[in-house]
Amino acid sequence: MVKIAVLGFGTVGAGVVDVIYDNADIVAKNAADKIEVEYILDIRDYPDSPFAGKVIHDFETIINDDSISVVVETIGGTKPAYEFTKRSLLAGKSVVTSNKELVATHGAELIKIAKENNVNYLFEAAVGGGIPIIRPMAQCLAANRIDEVCGILNGTTNYILNRMINAGLSFEKALAEAQEKGYAERNPAADVEGHDACRKICILAALAFGRHVYPEYVKTEGITKITLEDVAYAESDDKVIKLLGRARRVDDKGRAYVFVAPHLVSRESPLACVNGVFNSIMVSGNQVDDVMFYGRGAGKYPTASAVVADVIDAAKHLNARKYLSWDDGDASCVADLSEFKSKYYVRVSGDNARSAAIDTFGEVKFLSCADADSNECAFITDEMTVSELNAKLEKIKNHVALLSNMMVL
Ligand code: HSE
Repeated sequence: MVKIAVLGFGTVGAGVVDVIYDNADIVAKNAADKIEVEYILDIRDYPDSPFAGKVIHDFETIINDDSISVVVETIGGTKPAYEFTKRSLLAGKSVVTSNKELVATHGAELIKIAKENNVNYLFEAAVGGGIPIIRPMAQCLAANRIDEVCGILNGTTNYILNRMINAGLSFEKALAEAQEKGYAERNPAADVEGHDACRKICILAALAFGRHVYPEYVKTEGITKITLEDVAYAESDDKVIKLLGRARRVDDKGRAYVFVAPHLVSRESPLACVNGVFNSIMVSGNQVDDVMFYGRGAGKYPTASAVVADVIDAAKHLNARKYLSWDDGDASCVADLSEFKSKYYVRVSGDNARSAAIDTFGEVKFLSCADADSNECAFITDEMTVSELNAKLEKIKNHVALLSNMMVL
């Protein structure tokens, strides 16, 4: 029997315990051993839970119990998750987590500690919820030089954008729905400001390019400024707005363009069809070409599915190191975006907005929106670098007000 402890009995932690017992036979068969949840650590009591008898409040009980070989960390955030994870690894216990913030912030260090202690630190659920992506990237695509990773990495924002696009809901109403369904982070600012997607693209970039990518170096923009007018302008050109995390290889030294930003995506792109809480990640390898991963990126059981798979993997490799590893990184791992090339969506308002657009950007493709003010216009530019775009935006702002701008995929 493999005994485990679950730290944090919130949505994901409770899902993990349910999956372990609901699918006990399958889990035991795949782990080649019975998995038993010995402790559930939480600051709260859960008197109505069938697992109430397993709930404890003191982490020392777990760390001092040598029979616990795998610790599941589903607390989230870095405090006290970082300390508990580090101490567990140092004590020779493997740790499995869905905590993208912790992996994105301290992943390189925790992987190193796991390696030094001959245990595993596994985090399949930290990116894409239930979608298998960490293991496929680290193992199945290991023969490739990865050139690019691009994806819809946050279920809450995808759900919100989808409801704005398909039901004409305001941003606030759509966010309230996503919260009711349990998709959003405790503080939904992490979703709507793009920080959650940022942490996930940092993890994918580290896996792809071999060096830790720290979130503070990654330019991150969320969806809070997107309006129903932007949605309608995009629609007039058969495009939808998606929040994308992108990481593109720059050189062989681990440098990459890494950023999170809302984009206009053509309806012909497979990413445009990713609806609701679903996530999708496209990976381009130099031998395999493009591969795409798709599934539920948030939610109790999809996320628990990935966590429990890691528990099974950890249980099967109690005395064997797994494959996950990357080197530490620094600011130089993230390339300056000024030379990154794209087409852009630009929306401006003022007298003679159309002529200001043509004078500044030359030939552009104008978009339409029935509900927009008559003195505004939106258009799509030719391809140019970010620094060229910024220079032109500065110029056009001398004549009209800039309402929004986004990359076009
Ligand atoms: N709040 C996250 C999301 C949960 O909406 O994608 C899964 O990481």
